[in-house]
Amino acid sequence: MTDRFITDTLNQADTEFDISLRPGRFTDFVGQGKVRERLELFVQAARGRNDVLDHILLVGPPGLGKTTLAYIVAEAMGVNIKSTSGPVIDKPGDLAGLLTNLERGDILFIDEIHRLPRTVEEYMYSAMEDFVIDIVIDQGANARSVRLNIPKFTLIGATTRSGLLTAPLRSRFGLTNRLDYYEPAELKQIVHRSSRILNVDIDDAGAEEIAKRSRGTPRITNNLLRWVRDYAQVKAGNKINREVADQALSMLDIDEHGLDDMDKRILETIVHKFSGGPVGINSIAVSVGEEAGTLEEVYEPFLIQEGYLKRTPQGRVATARCYEKFGLKPNRAQTDLFAS
Ligand SMILES: Nc1ncnc2c1ncn2[C@@H]1O[C@H](COP(=O)(O)OP(=O)(O)OP(=O)(O)O)[C@@H](O)[C@H]1O
Ligand SMILES: [Mg+2]
Repeated sequence: MTDRFITDTLNQADTEFDISLRPGRFTDFVGQGKVRERLELFVQAARGRNDVLDHILLVGPPGLGKTTLAYIVAEAMGVNIKSTSGPVIDKPGDLAGLLTNLERGDILFIDEIHRLPRTVEEYMYSAMEDFVIDIVIDQGANARSVRLNIPKFTLIGATTRSGLLTAPLRSRFGLTNRLDYYEPAELKQIVHRSSRILNVDIDDAGAEEIAKRSRGTPRITNNLLRWVRDYAQVKAGNKINREVADQALSMLDIDEHGLDDMDKRILETIVHKFSGGPVGINSIAVSVGEEAGTLEEVYEPFLIQEGYLKRTPQGRVATARCYEKFGLKPNRAQTDLFAS
């Protein structure tokens, strides 16, 4: 399980464990201050007018709280939420079925909305804008188009790749929110909150250690906490402090900055096999044996944000910080690249 801990954690469907730790209200939701404030205001305004909430797009890397926020918004509006995901809706008829079953004000949550098939997406436009959907029934000479009215609803779309959304779809959202990686202090609060819920005995330094190594991502925080809890149960009399957390996490090959084996393999590949870059994402993907999409979606954003990697028009480049990490000096060409 070790070298893919992060990918596995981020790709897994939410388990019962995750769901029990999921904050249910704005006040329990740690961090993302701006996003939370905007959503709260949006909800308050709509409720004040007795109106239906406008469509919302949530963008950000996996595990940062998009699904959680969609549910919190539904709870705050006091409406039902139906949840589905882009690739599941494969015919316009599926979409029509979903939409006609909603009540006024209900939320339709579509995860991975960038993977909605194009043929379905086109029906979404009129649904979002005019709350109608024109469906073609029968085929050949008998084919005719039937207009279905749908109740005024709110679409909440979530995506890890906003770049893959078409402009017409994107422009139909009233509010777009981008989630960023969390600060260690915020993740520490999440460790303490989850520990209370799970009845785990952990001190402040132990919580800090887990937070620091969570790659800025609450889903990883919760999974590391679960692992450390198991470790403490077997090896440390059920008590978690910094030392216990450190030992447990080292066993997963997660380093002090939260990088796992795959992160390191990516950086080392760029430094050693491609002399620091620039190198295309596909070449890196082949070298490390991971899909290019996963690298772009899961690994790169964090490595870029932490300053190990730069994206240039020519390809990915290892930064001075990356060389430092491996105790190396950048070569001459690299130094020039950083300067430019
Ligand atoms: N702000 C937060 N405070 C506390 N816990 C959080 C917060 N955000 C997320 N979590 C925890 O992290 C888990 C993952 O969050 P969530 O499922 O909402 O992420 P996501 O952005 O929808 O991820 P994906 O892109 O993979 O669908 C949740 O189950 C919840 O326990
Ligand atoms: Mg989600």
